[in-house]
Amino acid sequence: MKTQGKECPHIAALDADPAVLEYIRRILADRFRVTTFTSALELNRSLSDSPTPDLLLMDWHVTEDDAEENALGLLAKTRALKSSLPIVMLACSAELKEVVAATRMGAADVILKPFNKTDIDLAVEQCLKTSGKPKSDDEVTEIPLDENTFFVRSSKRMREIESQCTLVARADIPVLILGESGTGKEVAALLIHKMSARSQRGFLKVNCAAMPADLLESELFGYEQGAFTGAVKSKPGKFEICNNGTILLDEIGELPPALQAKLLQVLQDGSFSRLGSRTSVKVDVRVIAATNIDIKAAIAKKTFREDLFYRLNGFTVRMPPLRDRTEEIPVLSQHFMRKVAAKYECDPLPISPALMQALTLYSWPGNLRELENTIKRYLVLGNEQAIMDELSPLKSTEFAALHSEQPNGRANLKKLVRNLKGNAEAVAIAQSLEDKGWNRKAAANDLQISYKALLYKIKQYNLTPPRKRPDWIEPASSFDQAQGV
Ligand SMILES: Nc1ncnc2c1ncn2[C@@H]1O[C@H](COP(=O)(O)OP(=O)(O)OP(=O)(O)O)[C@@H](O)[C@H]1O
Ligand SMILES: [Mg+2]
Repeated sequence: MKTQGKECPHIAALDADPAVLEYIRRILADRFRVTTFTSALELNRSLSDSPTPDLLLMDWHVTEDDAEENALGLLAKTRALKSSLPIVMLACSAELKEVVAATRMGAADVILKPFNKTDIDLAVEQCLKTSGKPKSDDEVTEIPLDENTFFVRSSKRMREIESQCTLVARADIPVLILGESGTGKEVAALLIHKMSARSQRGFLKVNCAAMPADLLESELFGYEQGAFTGAVKSKPGKFEICNNGTILLDEIGELPPALQAKLLQVLQDGSFSRLGSRTSVKVDVRVIAATNIDIKAAIAKKTFREDLFYRLNGFTVRMPPLRDRTEEIPVLSQHFMRKVAAKYECDPLPISPALMQALTLYSWPGNLRELENTIKRYLVLGNEQAIMDELSPLKSTEFAALHSEQPNGRANLKKLVRNLKGNAEAVAIAQSLEDKGWNRKAAANDLQISYKALLYKIKQYNLTPPRKRPDWIEPASSFDQAQGV
């Protein structure tokens, strides 16, 4: 064991290879106290006998004298011994299983070998920043991504998404982001880019559904002079412009078949040729793809290549619809109000409890984009009642009554109870209908009311079926999903 340095954060590193440890020590020793171990036995002894370090960098592959231990076993043991110690795994490849397993066992991060100074610096800084102050699930996180875009979250589901994005950012593998329209796929892609070692380089988005195949090909891959009528001089495509950066291929499900083959080539070896050129260009671009279509169905229909899907699907991030994270609606509403007010250079409007309740009860088929637009409309119109009328499954007057107060300042108890009952009834009916896939007979059975009564109540509360949810949006364990669809 070698120790070096002054009194500053203490970082321990375990790796069988002394050269790797020496490299880590050289990177960190000017800012941290670094302790290195070449065997797990040595590390365990030190963890039992000495003060806990602030961070542990731990190689995936353990030495021979630890043959009975595999990396996961060692990780589990170390976590059990020192539960608050953040552990960053050093893994040899981008093998997803390892990354997933390690994070499931509580690793704070994973760095892929061979790593460089930036990889280590980024991981260490990030872990030390967040260690010691574990984030609760509902704690609000607001990460600025660019001038107008923030990643805001305040739920367990989105905390998982944030962790996945942070993790996969470092792995530098293709990422597929799935989710309904407006759930924040582009925001997630930007978050991955910002957290990655490519953050100082470009981030470009190309909408694969926005133009015809020819145009899209020249947009993505560029063209040589004379490649087609009007190509008066050669032009690089987005892949070349974005070299060393990240490209987001939005609506990837719409990519025409010929371009699917060309993209597959880029993902395989980073090479392609411009339109009208015989020589190939090589680039290093991280590809993030996003779609709101059911990609499995597209593969079954043979409109999307299965081999391309597996290439793109290095890791899958599934954005939950807003109706599955309604606890975030207050935070997001306030965020959008501040954002929109700043854009229009006006004061934000207050969101009353009645309006907030209407916002929270609405089903948001258009997800965060629809919420943002609703807040924008409210700011422009300044008419809370109009917005509540648009949203409410109950009559807006009932919402108002719910919050109306008597002259003596006390709530009207009878009205309050009546409205709360109606409110709870509407929510229960909506939930049952959703559970039963809007099969009204099954829902009536479930609710133990007559079919006729159910139809009446659907009308009374103005309940409407949400847009069909593709079957890939199953709320399953996020990291299980990462293993492929
Ligand atoms: N976590 C978030 N925090 C703050 N704003 C968000 C978040 N997610 C999405 N938004 C905002 O919601 C709007 C929609 O997000 P985004 O464009 O990323 O969705 P999308 O899933 O790509 O939508 P589409 O499928 O229509 O392309 C944007 O204005 C974005 O800034
Ligand atoms: Mg998008």
